[in-house]
Amino acid sequence: MKCVATAIIRSNQKVADGIFLASLEAPEIAGQCLPGQFINIYFPETTKIFPRPFSIAGASDSRIKLLYKVIGSQTTLMSGWSAGQKIKILGPLGNIFDIQEQHYRDFILLGGGVGAAPLMFLRDELVKKGIKPYFFIGAKTKAELPVVEDSASHLILTTDDGSVGLKGNVVEHFLRMAENYKTPTQVSVCGPDMMMKVLKDISLPQNMDVFVSLEKTMACGLGLCQGCVVETTSGKYNGHYALVCKDGPVFNIKDVKFND
Ligand SMILES: Cc1cc2nc3c(=O)[nH]c(=O)nc-3n(C[C@H](O)[C@H](O)[C@H](O)COP(=O)(O)OP(=O)(O)OC[C@H]3O[C@@H](n4cnc5c(N)ncnc54)[C@H](O)[C@@H]3O)c2cc1C
Ligand code: FES
Repeated sequence: MKCVATAIIRSNQKVADGIFLASLEAPEIAGQCLPGQFINIYFPETTKIFPRPFSIAGASDSRIKLLYKVIGSQTTLMSGWSAGQKIKILGPLGNIFDIQEQHYRDFILLGGGVGAAPLMFLRDELVKKGIKPYFFIGAKTKAELPVVEDSASHLILTTDDGSVGLKGNVVEHFLRMAENYKTPTQVSVCGPDMMMKVLKDISLPQNMDVFVSLEKTMACGLGLCQGCVVETTSGKYNGHYALVCKDGPVFNIKDVKFND
């Protein structure tokens, strides 16, 4: 059950340009977390009222990992976290990447930049089940890649400038390889909206089901403010509108309507 907790920062390291990996000790929350879920981080010391949502990039019984990119005021504060510092968090929030190993034979993870965060946790859970997934991670340059080595998965790196891995866009490389996967395949995706839109518009092989973790600017993260609405094409959501924080963040791509 979700709860508010005081987490202790255990480490906070820069792993790529503007990207940090943090480990938080929060046993009240860590043991319950599943891939796809996120936590809210509060910043009571600043004038910002709203918490900031971050995907859980890994969890053990007592610790939570976060992979985050510095883009504004609060993520800049996070980059200055030091070991021993205490912060307030709420979680776990949202739904999960449901691993359906009875139904699928192959598992592909497709991450754009820091969108690799929830997929790292998903990879860990797949490995626990004896599954070695294919993990595509793309960035503009080598310096912006959050992960460069990963023996737990079949790692496929792409960079726009070709500074490491395959040259070009990660979605294009995934699509090029997609036809090689003939068995029922579960594809889990997190990255920029444009990446999702391309995947939505393209006709993928019939054997592939695609699940996307969406990011919307959030206020409450609890389904109260209606601030994170996404339009869907599915009747299973109230009036075809879903809340990313409560009904998601993970959706079947078939159900989501992406705006141009
Ligand atoms: C469910 C969920 C999971 C997330 N997981 C991660 C994660 O694992 N790692 C990570 O680095 N980030 C993640 N994010 C995004 C993260 O919440 C934002 O980067 C963060 O809130 C920015 O805070 P800030 O105060 O530094 O930036 P702000 O000062 O609030 O904003 C700076 C700029 O970024 C834009 N922005 C703010 N939030 C978002 C957003 N959610 N999407 C796109 N643009 C935004 C603002 O419009 C503004 O232009 C996630 C978001 C959601 C909704
Ligand atoms: S952020 Fe408030 S309802 Fe989703």
